[in-house]
Amino acid sequence: MGSLIKISGPVVVADGMRGAKMYDVVKVGDEKLTGEIIRLSGDTATIQVYEDTAGIKPGEPVENTGMPLSVELAPGLLKSIYDGIQRPLEVLVQQSGSFIGRGIVAMPLDRKKKWDFEPKAKKGDTVKRGDILGTVQETSVIEHRIMAQVDGKVEDIKKGKFNITEPIVKISGVEYPMLQTCHVRKAREYVRKFDPNIPLITGQRIVDMFFPIAKGGSACIPGPFGSGKTVMQHQLAKWSDTQIVVYIGCGERGNEMTEVLTEFPHLEDPKTKKPLMERTVLIANTSNMPVAAREASIYTGITIAEYYRDMGYDVSLMADSTSRWAEAMREIGGRLEEMPGEEGYPAYLARRLAEFYERAGRVTCLGTDSKRMGSITIIGAVSPPGGDISEPVSQNTLRVTKVFLALDASLANRRHFPSIHWLTSYSLYTENLRNWYVNNISAEWLDLRTKAMALLQKEAELQEVVQLVGPDALPEKEQLVLNAARMIREDFLQQSAYHEVDTYTSMEKQYLMLKIILRFDERAHGALDLGVNLKRLLDLPVKDKIGRMKEIKESELAKLKELLKEIDHEFDSLKAGMR
Ligand SMILES: Nc1ncnc2c1ncn2[C@@H]1O[C@H](COP(=O)(O)OP(=O)(O)O)[C@@H](O)[C@H]1O
Ligand SMILES: [Mg+2]
Repeated sequence: MGSLIKISGPVVVADGMRGAKMYDVVKVGDEKLTGEIIRLSGDTATIQVYEDTAGIKPGEPVENTGMPLSVELAPGLLKSIYDGIQRPLEVLVQQSGSFIGRGIVAMPLDRKKKWDFEPKAKKGDTVKRGDILGTVQETSVIEHRIMAQVDGKVEDIKKGKFNITEPIVKISGVEYPMLQTCHVRKAREYVRKFDPNIPLITGQRIVDMFFPIAKGGSACIPGPFGSGKTVMQHQLAKWSDTQIVVYIGCGERGNEMTEVLTEFPHLEDPKTKKPLMERTVLIANTSNMPVAAREASIYTGITIAEYYRDMGYDVSLMADSTSRWAEAMREIGGRLEEMPGEEGYPAYLARRLAEFYERAGRVTCLGTDSKRMGSITIIGAVSPPGGDISEPVSQNTLRVTKVFLALDASLANRRHFPSIHWLTSYSLYTENLRNWYVNNISAEWLDLRTKAMALLQKEAELQEVVQLVGPDALPEKEQLVLNAARMIREDFLQQSAYHEVDTYTSMEKQYLMLKIILRFDERAHGALDLGVNLKRLLDLPVKDKIGRMKEIKESELAKLKELLKEIDHEFDSLKAGMR
């Protein structure tokens, strides 16, 4: 038992901590506030405290639990809303009124609820750690797979209704319940990580077509306040082809409950029409929570994500916004009286960001079944002050993530949504995904992308001239370039999150939409060469139809194929008229 010698906001110092290890969890003061050792020199421990330290005094006791910061893993995680150290918000609020009291021991998972356990392993089986012993229907849409925690021989396995602490299996002489705990600061083990060569299908055209995210990859979405980070994160959570969503929200405004708590739990899962929470674990940081809990929330979130990955699920993890996490690190770092790095952030900022994004990946899971695969795709929003991404959090994030979706305030002001800028964004996965596109969509996919990007690039170059002399002074060929670029921007890239049909576009439809725009452009150039009047080309009736193709339902893609033919038909008759 140690005792407090110094208190500095969320950071306290205790001496007499004999036998303590780095990252041990401790109980601080008479109120037993939860904390974690973040620096150790001799018997003196520096501790970050996950609760408000106001009123605690030197001399109060500090007790070491000897355990690292951990999460509980078992059925019941889905639909939960937690704070950064996995305390269920509902319970916290019930026990202490509208704001969160101190020293509350709230169990992350319900101890009483009985789950119907269906064994998959049999008595006598030899199992390896990670093998699926049995399943529980966790929510209406997700089956929870209970995994063996050790290698050994199954001596007994039960079937029926159990709570998470009752033993359900006996392996090599030891009984195990469904519940397991896992430390959060270290990545959970897997067998092998794969190259990112399958796309995460998001239904968001600018992402899937222009700046694809690989399944098991990482992406960052930096942008100023109001540019659309949260809407994009919600769209990706709702529509991506993953089964599990872990959403770590650190609201940017409001004092009591953040937008995370007011909006996310009401999102509907478009695929099942049930609440998205049926397959989501939500971690919410409200601004009245201590900074250390915010610092931990990222680790709590990614560890839960890894647990579902290990069951063989594809998981998407959204962190909105990682800047709030970095600021928590800065505040704690500042109390450590260390030499600060850039802009006051601790020197370990870059390493922490890298370690977090490295926990993404598509892997083969532990266990005998060498074919079971799971993935975690990490999408982090960054909110640089004033939108200037030269600051350390943006820069260090860019260094480790492979997709950069640059939200742009001027686009948002013009109501061009999603306001991801096509000239400044990038994806480093495009080439890795080539084979997938060829085998699953079309060999043309990347060609279309390249052509469309080139047109947008050309438009940007012409823009300077246009600003000086106006578009009409340009040669007709170049006016056609401007026309094609406008079609790409307005009829393809702009996508409303709130329009029933437009909100999601299948890969097949995206392909057809871009093909149509480029076909029009190609035929227009051909017609111009034959001497057709430019204005006539730009006024062709089929152009209106192209402008409305977003509204064509997924069940009516034949209409898009018709439209391709119609374009040819209109241009053919133009040509015939020339003769
Ligand atoms: N894809 C979109 N479709 C339609 N409107 C959007 C879209 N993205 C953003 N918006 C609009 O921009 C507003 C601000 O977006 P938000 O995601 O809250 O910004 P941020 O999280 O960057 O502060 C939204 O309330 C919405 O009106
Ligand atoms: Mg936001």
